[in-house]
Amino acid sequence: MCGIVGYIGDKNCVPILINGLKRLEYRGYDSAGLGVIINHECRVVKNKGQVALLEKKLEEVSLSGNLGIGHTRWATHGVPNEINAHPHFNSSKNLLVIHNGIIENYQTLKAGLQKFGYKFISDTDSEVIPHLIDSFLIKGHSLFKSVQLALSEVEGTYGLIVIYDEEPDRMIAARKGSPLVLGIGDKENFVASDVSAILAHTKQIVYLEDGEVVEVFKDHFIAKTVLDKEIEKEVHEITMTLDEIDKGGFAHFMLKEIMEQPESICNSMRGRLLLDKGTSKLGGLESVADRLASSSRIIISACGTSWHAGLVGEYMLEQFTRIPTEVEYASEFRYRNPVVNKDDAIFFISQSGETADTLAALREAKDKGALVLGICNAVGSSIARESIAGVYTHAGPEIGVASTKAFTSQLVVLALITLLIARKKNMSLVDGKSIAEELKTIPDKISKILKLNDTIEEIAAEFKDVKNFLYLGRGYNFPVALEGALKLKEISYIHAEGYPAAEMKHGPIALIDENMPAVFIAPKDSTYEKIISNIEEIKARKGRIIAIASENDDKIDNLVDYSIKIPDTIRMLMPILTVIPLQLLAYHIAVKKGLNVDQPRNLAKSVTVE
Ligand code: G6P
Repeated sequence: MCGIVGYIGDKNCVPILINGLKRLEYRGYDSAGLGVIINHECRVVKNKGQVALLEKKLEEVSLSGNLGIGHTRWATHGVPNEINAHPHFNSSKNLLVIHNGIIENYQTLKAGLQKFGYKFISDTDSEVIPHLIDSFLIKGHSLFKSVQLALSEVEGTYGLIVIYDEEPDRMIAARKGSPLVLGIGDKENFVASDVSAILAHTKQIVYLEDGEVVEVFKDHFIAKTVLDKEIEKEVHEITMTLDEIDKGGFAHFMLKEIMEQPESICNSMRGRLLLDKGTSKLGGLESVADRLASSSRIIISACGTSWHAGLVGEYMLEQFTRIPTEVEYASEFRYRNPVVNKDDAIFFISQSGETADTLAALREAKDKGALVLGICNAVGSSIARESIAGVYTHAGPEIGVASTKAFTSQLVVLALITLLIARKKNMSLVDGKSIAEELKTIPDKISKILKLNDTIEEIAAEFKDVKNFLYLGRGYNFPVALEGALKLKEISYIHAEGYPAAEMKHGPIALIDENMPAVFIAPKDSTYEKIISNIEEIKARKGRIIAIASENDDKIDNLVDYSIKIPDTIRMLMPILTVIPLQLLAYHIAVKKGLNVDQPRNLAKSVTVE
C-alpha cells in the first residue's frame, strides 16, 4: 500500500506534496515524510502518524525546494515509527527513495549489500532500494541507468520515486505491481500513486505500466522499460473534478459517500437501462456479450466489500441466467491452482482496481484462457486495463476507507449484467421490463431511507458500548449481513459476525444474552416467516434486536427492540436498500465512540500488497 507523490517544476514543492499526501492518506497513514533537494543537498522531514502531524512539524522546520517527494505509509515491514517512515536514504545521504509495494527478496539483497559495507538503519524492505541504486551509481552509471540496473535485481512489487542531489533536474519513477501515474503540467511535472493527489494541478495524465521506468524533468519525460527499451506513452485527459474528491460540508467522507448514493447509483445506471426492451446496454461488454451468455460457468472473484457484492451477484446470476456461478476470495483463488475452463467467464470486482490479490487472480485466470472481465470504479486502474472487457461502476471517487457507495454501485452493475445475460437467454420481455422499471425506482427509495439518519443515530447511541454484535439475514440479505458486520468492525472496532439467519442455530446462538445484540435484515419476502422464527429464538434468550424491516410491517415492532422501516423492492435489488441503514448504524456508532471514521486503525482503502 502507501501513497507516493513527487513534484518537479519552478514552484515550492512542499505545499504541493503535503496536499497530495492528504489526498493519498486513504492508502495508509502510519507515517508520513517528505524529501526535498535544496542546493544540491537532500533534506528529509518525517513523522509517525498522519500527514497532519507532519504538516505541524513542518511549521517548525524550514523546508522548500523545486524538486521533492512525499510518502504516506501503511506498514508492512517494520513498525510504524519515524525511522521506518519514508523517504529512505543511501549511506552517503545524497539519494532518496519513496516506495509503495513489497521487495520480496530484500533479505538476500540486504545481506549482499551489507557485505559491501552498506549500513541499514530501518527495518523496512524498502531501504534496500537506495543502497542498491547507490551500488550502481558508485560504478559511474547515471541515476536512470542505476535505477534500471537495481530494479532488474528486485523481486516483488513497487511504485517508487528516486531523487539524487547530483542530478537535481529530474526524478525517476518506476512501476511494477503498484499503481503510478505521471501528471503533465506547464513547466512542471508530477508523479503520484493516483490522480487525486495531483488533480489540483493537472488533468493530463500518463498511466505507467508494469516494468516501466520514467525519467521526469520539469518540461519533458523519457519513458523506457527496466530493460532499456524505449516506449511511447499516451497522455490522457481525465474528467474527474476536485469537487468530487472533497468532503463537501460533511463531517466525514464516509457520511458524504453514504448520502451520495441516490446520485452515485443514478450514475451507475445512466444510459444503461433500456426500459422498452427490458434489458441493459453495457458498452464495455458488447464485444463479449454472446460469449458471456453462453459461458458454462461464471466465477466472481474479489476482496472485502467487493467480495460481498460478488455474493449478491451470485444469487442474481443464478436466479435469472441459470448459469452456475461461484464466488471466491481473490487471495484464495490465485494460490490454489483453480480449475478454470476456456468457456468460463470470470468477473473481478474491485472499487480501486488495484487490489493486489484481485489483480493477481485476474492474471492467473487470463493465463488459463478464461474470459476475464472487470467491474471497477477507478477509471484507468490496473484491473480495468488488464481485463478483456468490463463495466465501470461510475460511483465517483470513494475516499472513506469503509466502502459504501462503491458497494451499492457494484450491486447495480451486477443487476444490469444479470439483466443483459438473462434477456439474451430465457428471460421474457415482461420480466425484463419489470426489473428495469424497478431498478429505476431505487435512487428515490434510497433517498427515503437516508431520511432515517436521525433515527438511526439515536439507535446507535443505545448500542455504542456493546462489545459484540450479530448480523443475520437470509437469501439475498445474507451477504448484506456480512457487509453490515464488516462495516461495524472496520470503523467501530466492535466485534461483529454476519451469519445466514438459519445457521445461527448451529453455533452463534450459544453467544446470545442481553449483552449480545443482533441486527436482523428482515424485509417482507419469501423468507420472512422463517426469519421471524429466528427473531423469536433470539428474543427467548434475552438478546436485544434491531430489525431492518419493510415499511408496511407492523407485526415486527412487537418482537424487536428497534425497527428501521424501509421501502420494498424486488428480492434481487433488496440488498441495495437494506445495506443503507447498516452503513449509517456503523457510521454513527463509530462517531459516538470518538473514532476516526475515515481512517480506521490498521486499514487502508487500497490494498496493493499481497
Ligand atoms: C480494502 C478496503 C475495503 C475493500 C477491499 C477491496 O480492504 O478497506 O473497503 O472492500 O480493500 O478493495 P477493492 O478496491 O478491490 O474493492
